[in-house]
Amino acid sequence: MSPHAENITEIVAGLTRPQKSISSKYFYDERGSQLFDAITQLPEYYLTGTEIGIMRNNIAEIVELVGKQASLIEFGSGSSLKTRILLEHLDELAAYVPVDISEEHLLASAQRIGSEFPDTEVLPVVADFTRKFDLPTPRVMPLRNIVYFPGSTIGNFEHSVALDLLRVMRHEARENGALLIGVDLQKDAAIIDNAYNDSQGISAEFNLNILRHLNQVYAADFDLDEFSHDAQYDAAEGRVVIHLVSARDQVVHIGETRIDIAHGEKILTEYSHKYTLQGFAEMAGQADFRVEKVWADAEDLFSVQYLLAI
Ligand code: AVJ
Repeated sequence: MSPHAENITEIVAGLTRPQKSISSKYFYDERGSQLFDAITQLPEYYLTGTEIGIMRNNIAEIVELVGKQASLIEFGSGSSLKTRILLEHLDELAAYVPVDISEEHLLASAQRIGSEFPDTEVLPVVADFTRKFDLPTPRVMPLRNIVYFPGSTIGNFEHSVALDLLRVMRHEARENGALLIGVDLQKDAAIIDNAYNDSQGISAEFNLNILRHLNQVYAADFDLDEFSHDAQYDAAEGRVVIHLVSARDQVVHIGETRIDIAHGEKILTEYSHKYTLQGFAEMAGQADFRVEKVWADAEDLFSVQYLLAI
C-alpha cells in the first residue's frame, strides 16, 4: 500500500470507532506548522520559551555532560532554535543526525543547518522514529550517541507508546549513550488550560486546521464552521485532552466512506501529557535509562532532562 493509502485507511479507522479520533501527526501540514510556530510565540504557551531559557541557562553544563566527539541524533527534523543553541555550543560533534519521516522537510532543514554549521557533518535520516532504524556512519568515529528529543513531544503519546518510544531512543543511544529530552511538568491547571486555550484563538485555529488538511490531502469534506475547539487539562490523568466538537448532526465523507457525526460528539485530536519528575523517572527506568540531571525554570513549569543509558 502507498503511504497515502495507508494514511487514508488509518484516518477512516480512527473516525469509525466509537470514540472518533484523528492522529495528531495530521496537524503538521504547511499551514499547521505555521500555526504551531505562532503558538510557540503566544504569551500563554509557556513551553517553548521556558525550554529555550532552560537550555540557555544551563548550556555549559549540557556541553560538559555531552562531552567531545558525540553524535547528536535528533528525533524530529531539527528546525528549531533549541537545536541551534546546542549546535552552536557543541562545537566538537562527530555528527548531527536529524531523523524525520517527512523527507522534504528533513532535507530542507538539514541543508540549512549544514550551511550554518559547516564544521559539523550533517547526516539526515528519513525514518519513522517510532521504530528502530539504522544509523549512518560518520566520518569521525563517535565516542557516544546523544539522542535529542525537545519540545515535550513525548507528551503527545499515551504511556505505553511513550515507553516504546523511549525504548527506541535507548536502542539508538547504544551503550554509553544518553538522551536529552524536554518534558513538560504537571502544575496548576489554570496555567495549562490557558496554554491550550489562548485569547487570540490560535490554538483553536491549529486544532481546526487538521480538518482542512484532511479535506485538502485526503479527499474529505469537513465543514470547519461546524466544529469547535475544546481543550481541557485532566489533572487526575495528568494530560490535556484536545477535541473537536460537532456543532450539529452531520455527515462527512473521506473519499467514498460516509461518516455520521452527532451533535456534541467529540473527535479526539491530541493528548498532551504532563509529567511529575518521579513519574517520568519511573518510565525512563522501564526503558533502561537513569535520570542523571534535571534542569528546570524557577517556577518548575518545564524540565530538560539528561538520561543515561544503563
Ligand atoms: C508539540 C506536542 C509539544 O502538546 O503542547 C500545542 C502541540 N497542541 N498546542 C503540545 C500543541 C496544541 C504541543 N507539542
